Amino acid sequence: MSEQTQTQDEKNRVIIFDTTLRDGEQSPGCSMNLEEKLRIARMLDTMGVDVIEAGFPIASPGDFEAVSEIAKTVNNAIICGLSRAKAGDIETAAAALKEAKRKRIHTFISTSPLHMKYKLQMGPNSVIEAIHESVTLARNFTDDVEWSAEDGSRTEDDFLCQCVETAINAGATTINIPDTVGYAVPDEYYRQIKMLFDRVPNIDKAIISVHCHNDLGLAVANSIAGVQAGARQVECTINGIGERAGNAALEEIVMALRTRHDVMPYHNNIDTTMITKASKTLSTTVGFSVQPNKAIVGKNAFAHESGIHQDGMLKNAATYEIMTPESVGLNKSELVLGKHSGRHALKSKVEELGYELGDNSFQDLFKRFKELADKKKQIFDDDITALIEDEMATEHDRIQFVSLQVQAGSKGPQVAELEIEVDGEIKRTRVEGNGPVDAIFKAIREIEAHPDARLQLYQVHAVTGGTDAQAEVTVRLEENGRTVNGSGADADTLVASARAYIHALNKLMTKRGKGKPDVNP
Ligand code: KIV
Ligand code: ZN
Repeated sequence: MSEQTQTQDEKNRVIIFDTTLRDGEQSPGCSMNLEEKLRIARMLDTMGVDVIEAGFPIASPGDFEAVSEIAKTVNNAIICGLSRAKAGDIETAAAALKEAKRKRIHTFISTSPLHMKYKLQMGPNSVIEAIHESVTLARNFTDDVEWSAEDGSRTEDDFLCQCVETAINAGATTINIPDTVGYAVPDEYYRQIKMLFDRVPNIDKAIISVHCHNDLGLAVANSIAGVQAGARQVECTINGIGERAGNAALEEIVMALRTRHDVMPYHNNIDTTMITKASKTLSTTVGFSVQPNKAIVGKNAFAHESGIHQDGMLKNAATYEIMTPESVGLNKSELVLGKHSGRHALKSKVEELGYELGDNSFQDLFKRFKELADKKKQIFDDDITALIEDEMATEHDRIQFVSLQVQAGSKGPQVAELEIEVDGEIKRTRVEGNGPVDAIFKAIREIEAHPDARLQLYQVHAVTGGTDAQAEVTVRLEENGRTVNGSGADADTLVASARAYIHALNKLMTKRGKGKPDVNP
């Protein structure tokens, strides 16, 4: 490779900054506990994410602990903590990041006229001063400081240039221009990023970053427009989770850049074959399944139903497939194990699917696998994945499902006999309901009272085809403005429903008392 090509290669390297654990986690129903955050962080690190925004340390003791544990654990990625332009925030972020091998402090302040007037109640000069002070303070703790102009896409050009120049002079090494409210359109956002390159005198001293929300469904298109205008960091989340309509989806950005490398010659460090697993792990962890037609990771993203398409595919897959399922780690679900498969076979399958389970979790998985094999003749990779994800998502929960007997049918009454373990103690009840699901949920409520919680969503999906397919159930609960999602998988839809409700309840209990002060960006 010639020196000139190498330079070009470096110039076209796009940094992938993942904010699943910060912007993603702060969105309704997506909260995660410490174990879950650590698992997601390790996964992001393994898949090659450059920067992991691990949280907002000042927001709550839970956020602080998560950032500091992730900082201790992760080996490769830069660990980033968010802070407002306040000394307390920055010092807290620095303390949480203390043990990171590579750390970044990310500080932000609003710059649009609307936000400055109503949210900050600050004039432009005070904002400039706050930028200078916050970045200068952050630089005392690390050389890697990112500064963001909140509501940047709705900020006036002259003032944005002044803010960016101030931040870079104070030592910011990355400048992020968020489309905070998902209002921009690609041409306009391209122009704005390009304008900064043309007008800010010290712009070459920082990496320009894009951070786009999806309110108009344009987050990925805007992010790519930003890269085409010269930005070399993209902020995104797995499955596009995030505030309101979400953030730009990591998998869409990465696969768009890879698939259309002919017109977008940019590269990054992501191992795309981990995308499917990352998406599944996140959706089970937060109990938030992706829509079937979601690009890259939806169930139908590589399905070809129409006869004409199937015919074309058989002749040449490229007729209707612009990227291979294998490139995102979606291998044809193999028929793998059956009733007679032993521990050894299951263990090899777990490893082959890319999971690591502790001894206790593996014992539980093996028990559930045997139960499933009794009910279901053919067990596929997807079945095993659903069981593993379910097991991993709930292994540290205080309330554990034990057993369920349900009396259902048209001749009522419908009755649930439920046995669960709460902090190691077995509790049982027998409850009648208006239908089996109602009876099960009432039984859980009777054992562990939570009168203020409301059921907001109950959703069932089949993991594979066939009437003996495992059910994957999602339950959403809301309590005093806090929303959580739980998921559960089982060959019996009612058992999966009980597991999903219990998972959501565990999350609600973790969230209680960990209320975030009003500091969310
Ligand atoms: O959307 C936004 O503006 C943000 C900033 C805090 C970076 O998330
Ligand atoms: Zn955001």
